[in-house]
Amino acid sequence: MPIVTVCASAPESRYDIHIGHGLLKACAPLFAPYRGRRAAIVADSNTAPLYSYALMEQLHRAGVESSVIVLPAGEATKCPEELARLYDAFLDFRLTRADLVIALGGGVVGDIAGYAACTYLRGVHFVQVPTTLLAQVDSSVGGKVAVNHPRGKNLLGAFYQPELVLIDCDTLQTLDERQVGAGLGEVIKYGCICDRALFERIETLGSRAALTPVLDEIIARCCALKAEYVRVDPHDHGVRMQLNFGHTLAHALENAMGYGTLLHGEAVTIGMVAAARWGEALGMTPEGTSSRIRAVLRAYGLMTDVPAGLSPDALAGAMALDKKAEGRTVRAVILTEIGACKGVPLTPAQLKAFL
Ligand code: GLY
Repeated sequence: MPIVTVCASAPESRYDIHIGHGLLKACAPLFAPYRGRRAAIVADSNTAPLYSYALMEQLHRAGVESSVIVLPAGEATKCPEELARLYDAFLDFRLTRADLVIALGGGVVGDIAGYAACTYLRGVHFVQVPTTLLAQVDSSVGGKVAVNHPRGKNLLGAFYQPELVLIDCDTLQTLDERQVGAGLGEVIKYGCICDRALFERIETLGSRAALTPVLDEIIARCCALKAEYVRVDPHDHGVRMQLNFGHTLAHALENAMGYGTLLHGEAVTIGMVAAARWGEALGMTPEGTSSRIRAVLRAYGLMTDVPAGLSPDALAGAMALDKKAEGRTVRAVILTEIGACKGVPLTPAQLKAFL
């Protein structure tokens, strides 16, 4: 069973990501260090009925008393009101600083449970059990936790690394195809920005059916790549921004279409093709790269084009408001080839012209 170790600067931020099949039914030994503690499992209305019993059973075997808190599924849950509900539940369960919070779900659950774990009593132990492909290859690793503010996504957040990440690949069997696609977009993104061999492997496999039998290996590779970004730049001041390839347009699309219309991963795949075209127009990305990325995304049934009816002016305006904007320019991630990239400042006019 693959284990990837993350080492985010301080020694106390070193943790293992365990990746395998059937882990949720066999993870008691991994919780042995928490014997005698309490665990608040934060799940949502999708993951609680599917997985919480298995996890509670394992915790019981490990001598950890647990309780499940069920949040409504969906992005709207990542709000200050649900966060307050979590704090109340932790208090009702008499969670102390010796105890732990376990996030059992996708990115939304991981983000809000992590933010609650970071702030409750100035920080309690935190474990991630991601159950979507996107959370497994990206959001559960690296410590970004947050809730949304009515004025924007992830405006209230922190860096708070988990102590352990458990990835049970069997959870993907119950994930709908659209959610799997959103995660595959992030997998292809790693290939584009830093791992040409991964990109070519996915290109050669050529379909979801061919990729499924090797998905655990691919998840492990993505976790190792993410772990390296986090080791080098745990607080996102430099190279970690490469992970935002495709995100300049993606954030604008999500904003212009209304959050929740597109899944984040869907907006990212459209943004990746646009970013490759920006790079080609600037002469920084080899000609033909955007077509190659588009072809791979299409082979996996992923979105590649800006939905009809969206005005380039509105999108360029939304891109100018990007969190990564610097003065009049927006720092976009541009490929120098498949497997390598750098941040480049682009003006709103350039972004619009190349859409
Ligand atoms: N999801 C991007 C990052 O963790 O930096």
